[in-house]
Amino acid sequence: MSTLWVGTSWKMNKTLAEGREWASGLRDHLAGAAPEGVQPFVIPSFTATAAVREVLGEDSPVLLGVQNAHWEDAGAWTGEVSVPQAKDAGAQIVEIGHSERREHFGETIETTRLKVSATLHHGLIPLLCIGESAEVKDSGGTSEFILDQAHGALEGLDDQQLSRVVIAYEPIWAIGEQGRPATVEELIEPFAALGEQYTGKVAGLLYGGSVNLDNAADLLGIGHVTGLFVGRTAWQLEGYLELLRIAQTHLAA
Ligand code: 13P
Repeated sequence: MSTLWVGTSWKMNKTLAEGREWASGLRDHLAGAAPEGVQPFVIPSFTATAAVREVLGEDSPVLLGVQNAHWEDAGAWTGEVSVPQAKDAGAQIVEIGHSERREHFGETIETTRLKVSATLHHGLIPLLCIGESAEVKDSGGTSEFILDQAHGALEGLDDQQLSRVVIAYEPIWAIGEQGRPATVEELIEPFAALGEQYTGKVAGLLYGGSVNLDNAADLLGIGHVTGLFVGRTAWQLEGYLELLRIAQTHLAA
């Protein structure tokens, strides 16, 4: 059984105090070890990266990420944060290409490719997010669209580099308050398409979008799915801990 990745992005949420509280609760709960076979990760806002690293400690079993990073190491890029800066603050993962960034901040296949490359160059893990709109889904083009996003961002990587990449498939229509949870049936074909290309080659193939405590176990049962990338359900620590338990139960079954 491959490792199950279970992580959350806090998006643009949590003060430093709230972030520290969540992270210290998780640290105390895990007491130095992740559940067997499970790779936990947390992706706070930039403001909380260093604080969460401090709370988790250097040897934490929980991987820490940032929600974006620029492809250049340094320079005149006002408002941006580079991969070396993220690493300096304690990050091990760089989230790249979330649909909210593609929609609102002009992220393209080309910028995701540059960011994946910079992330790998500095020894961090790229968490590449892909996903189609409702329009693309309704036209029957889902698999082609998401494979284009993945191929475009991962083009030119050798096997060793690819083996450090984590892909999260998050259909846009399933994300957030406006989204509706995807059914297992809707996800079988896209994951079959992704699995054919990437299972065994990348570090993880995650599902994200309205993951909750009722659907998490079923989502983990979909062929080729090796983890969950979660927003709202995990923002309260208790929800996240429950997701870790669900992943453990899935592995034990
Ligand atoms: P929700 O779980 O809140 O739908 O968000 C998913 C997501 O975008 C994770 O990156």
